[in-house]
Amino acid sequence: RAHFNRRQDLAGRRLLITAGPTHEDLDPVRYLGNRSTGKMGIALAEAAAARGATVDLILGPTHLSTSAPGVTVIPVRTAREMHESALDRWPMATDGILCAAVADYRPESVAPEKIKKTEGDFALTLIRNPDIAADLGRDKRPDQFLVGFALETENGIENARGKLERKGLDLIVLNSPRVPGAAFGHDTNQIQLIDRNKVTSFELKAKREVADDILDRLPPNRTP
Ligand code: CTP
Ligand code: CA
Repeated sequence: RAHFNRRQDLAGRRLLITAGPTHEDLDPVRYLGNRSTGKMGIALAEAAAARGATVDLILGPTHLSTSAPGVTVIPVRTAREMHESALDRWPMATDGILCAAVADYRPESVAPEKIKKTEGDFALTLIRNPDIAADLGRDKRPDQFLVGFALETENGIENARGKLERKGLDLIVLNSPRVPGAAFGHDTNQIQLIDRNKVTSFELKAKREVADDILDRLPPNRTP
């Protein structure tokens, strides 16, 4: 699809997008988090809405947001909240794009009061969080299309393909944190799009343009 006829090519589609980090509470004032800002997911939501889609954006804690028409922002905090919200909405979606940096683990329990320092060291036990991508992939209908993200520091393509298969994704977006100007917090990103058959490499570009490259890979609307 060329630029000039992108316009409303996603009309009638309902996209579920996860974005941002999650915060896993340790006590009332402390949490485990990560450096995700949600920029890539917000860019995807805005680009999809501009192309006619309706978007549910499930957004972890970040100072960024969007008020673009056609985008409903669902703010969540923890991986479990994001998981619940995503599973609830997945049956209504035509496509899912999972770019949230979901914490793989959370503290085994949340202390009800602020944890006090003692003389000795402090050991923290972490337990596994649910895998949102894997659960949506498991529940995916043949008419739904699911896109995941992967950030790898080594064996990028191999690891990303492994995730594609394990999680039942149709497409995975690989970005490397080693590329200057790409990924966390930046306005630009450099990606490779990987499916079962091929790898497509793109230049470093603005996240909004990266978003359009990803959206170009959603299956076209069927003309009745
Ligand atoms: N993902 C998810 N839920 C999780 C963990 C990951 O939905 N609990 C999604 C991410 O949003 C991304 C994809 O799965 O689309 C891959 O995330 P990644 O962290 O790279 O994969 P993991 O399976 O967690 O593997 P690892 O962190 O060990 O590399
Ligand atoms: Ca992970």
